[in-house]
Amino acid sequence: MNIEGRSMVADQIDPKTRKPEPCVFVIFGVTGDLAHRLVIPALYNLAEGGLLPEKFCVVGVTRTEMQSKTLHADLQKSLDQFATRKVNPEITRKLFDCVTSIHADPGDPSSFDGLKAHLEKIGTSSGVKNCLFYLAVPPAAFKPISEQLGRVGLLTEQPGAWRRLVIEKPFGTDLKSARELNHDLLKLVDEHQIYRIDHYLGKETVQNILVLRFANGMFEPIWNRNHIDHVQITVSETLDVGRRGSFYDATGALRDMVPNHLFQLLALVAMEPPSRFDAHSVRSEKGEVLAAIQIQTEAEALKNSVRGQYVDGIAGGKEVIDYRKTPDVDPNSVVETFAALKLTIDNWRWAGVPFYLRTGKAMTSKRTEVAIRFKRAPFSMFRTTEVERLSRNYFVIGIEPTEGVTLQFNTKVPGPSVTIDGVEMKFKYKDYFKAAPSTGYETLIYDCMIGDNILFQRADSVEAGWQAVQPFLDAWKKAGANGLAIYRAGTNGPTEADELMRRDGRSWRAPDRE
Ligand code: BG6
Repeated sequence: MNIEGRSMVADQIDPKTRKPEPCVFVIFGVTGDLAHRLVIPALYNLAEGGLLPEKFCVVGVTRTEMQSKTLHADLQKSLDQFATRKVNPEITRKLFDCVTSIHADPGDPSSFDGLKAHLEKIGTSSGVKNCLFYLAVPPAAFKPISEQLGRVGLLTEQPGAWRRLVIEKPFGTDLKSARELNHDLLKLVDEHQIYRIDHYLGKETVQNILVLRFANGMFEPIWNRNHIDHVQITVSETLDVGRRGSFYDATGALRDMVPNHLFQLLALVAMEPPSRFDAHSVRSEKGEVLAAIQIQTEAEALKNSVRGQYVDGIAGGKEVIDYRKTPDVDPNSVVETFAALKLTIDNWRWAGVPFYLRTGKAMTSKRTEVAIRFKRAPFSMFRTTEVERLSRNYFVIGIEPTEGVTLQFNTKVPGPSVTIDGVEMKFKYKDYFKAAPSTGYETLIYDCMIGDNILFQRADSVEAGWQAVQPFLDAWKKAGANGLAIYRAGTNGPTEADELMRRDGRSWRAPDRE
């Protein structure tokens, strides 16, 4: 996500073509869902945009022996199924020109010697020595794979041969396991070699929060506790748990969404302006604000949260069964499919400004947004106007599906008397920019190749995130079924979440009028 002409990693991009340096792209889990649905289509889109290195090889690592030509055909099939754009056979031919498969399994350490020999052979024949290891595998495999890579020396950087490790959330399942994972990885590689992907940072609208805040002069002076009443972060989905029962019942809404996706949004909205637009400065400011989230006691956490579980209903136009009847879900499960939290940030900018976060499955609508509610104007001038009509001063950053920004403010209704009503001013991306359909992974993968970590989570932020949610995890675990609210699929979540706001004299923002 480098700013034109100001990249801190400019030496790794060809300034004329913007192509990254040559590299071997090694995919562990190449036959899995993530590789097929997102990584390969994203590589295709980068190839179409001319943004892959001039010399580029894909090495697919499989757990059982597979011929390179079988892998080639497999990747072609996944592209046909998941490409976001019309596939041009000429581009595919070039992209897959250099695909090879190799078998390596941490259960058979010697297979990693084979992988090393394979990469050395590619290095000798093509001169490509930079290697990116994309671990598109379940989290339990992060450590064993990295350890084997480390053992055979594949993670050691040399001049002209960088080594990068890409992993995807979850980065641990609580504070302790996140610390352990960081510790294990950092024994093998340096922080600058790790790219922890949170796919929310691949979204244009999320990246735009930085630009919106810091490339415009008018927001910063009012972006603080003097002017902002509170902030709401909503990520609601119509999707139910479906076939992900076994993963979800061991995870729940809080772990699945909050310390990662929602906290990325929170960090971008609440961070201090970085002094430079580079990975170190931006990530340090994000880490600082996450570390400033007040750590609640378990009793406070119970008071400041709501967890819910859906029962049957209609969401996203489809009949949804009770969460507890979902395949691979414990029929007595107390795992939450909805979570709402009230957090505060203990620093000079935000002291006293609550951040309300909510996320849930099987809800009324797909809606991801950050709504910043400004303080009310003094009402004395407008005593005769209904208060509710005056109360909607919001600045809303729409992430999905509305991509854009909405400003809600009060205006005079035309006519002889002073009647006031709330109106909306909207900016929508699609009205200004025509972007080719993408997977959301293109920028992330490109950034891994050019060595720009700005959009990736650093160890300290990951741990700060878990630290803030840990009291909620602990308190909910102890409470068991007590306090688990029920909501019907296709609604806005449990009414208790409205109560969380109401008791502070506030309410969740209603969706945009379209
Ligand atoms: C994933 C979660 O990380 O994010 C899923 O595991 C969730 O449960 C998804 O559905 C939401 O992503 P998005 O981009 O659709 O908001």
